[in-house]
Amino acid sequence: MIIDGKKISEEILEKIKLKVLSIKKNRNIVPGLAVIMVGDDPASRIYVNNKKKACSKVGVYSREYFLPGGISEEDLLKLISELNRDQNIHGILVQLPLPSHINENAVIEAICPEKDVDCFHPFNMGKLLTGNANILPCTPAGIIAALEHEKIDISSKHCVVVGRSNIVGKPISLLLLQKNATVTICHSKTLNLEDVCRRADILICAVGKANFISKEMVKNNAVVIDVGINRLPNGKICGDVDFDNVKFIASYITPVPGGVGPLTVSMLINNVLECFGKLVEKI
Ligand code: GUN
Repeated sequence: MIIDGKKISEEILEKIKLKVLSIKKNRNIVPGLAVIMVGDDPASRIYVNNKKKACSKVGVYSREYFLPGGISEEDLLKLISELNRDQNIHGILVQLPLPSHINENAVIEAICPEKDVDCFHPFNMGKLLTGNANILPCTPAGIIAALEHEKIDISSKHCVVVGRSNIVGKPISLLLLQKNATVTICHSKTLNLEDVCRRADILICAVGKANFISKEMVKNNAVVIDVGINRLPNGKICGDVDFDNVKFIASYITPVPGGVGPLTVSMLINNVLECFGKLVEKI
């Protein structure tokens, strides 16, 4: 069974659109998102444009900043500080990765936690760790949305997460744990990776390496969630999983493109509305 992330995402965006309409009617304001991109990484540009398109689809105000790769950290922090005070902006997203001369942590920590739609700020990460999250990080939230949409039970399942990034691996492990899964986190120094992966009821891969998960690493009827987005030399986009072979073994599998990616975007827009709700409550 192939999980159609695009379709699930469209359903979620349709619901969000109605909420935005009602906010507009009742309050005469719209939620707003600022997206900052530094440099000209082609993949990041595609992601930023997808976020912009989703905003306009549901009626969320969006503003994009395409900044030169050579911008100083000071100037970037100044822009974030302005956006923190901007009444029309309820969510701020700085597309990662940033150029190496900019301290990523300093940038993330400069975003006011109430506008941190990525849930990357240490305050929000801490809330997530303790099970008190106001919002969830977008890609992990998208994975949970896909599992819930397909009514896949998480409780008591053995979930193996390959990759330990702050964006995906660590937070999805926490969310699965909160849903009573037994979680194993694997990384580049894990021994016998193949054996560990083959024990997974739910296998989640986020390493950014094309065809990293072969059919030999997947148990019969496992659920396989592919978070990777890789570009092959021929220009084609593919995930971390050898989809063409693993699809015959898995009970459910997410494709790339059209799997987790669109769900990440709809979760982001959902987070903009969450942040908006909290911010206007305060006024
Ligand atoms: N780079 C890759 N994924 C993400 C994401 O979810 N948010 C941001 N800000 N940057 C990313």
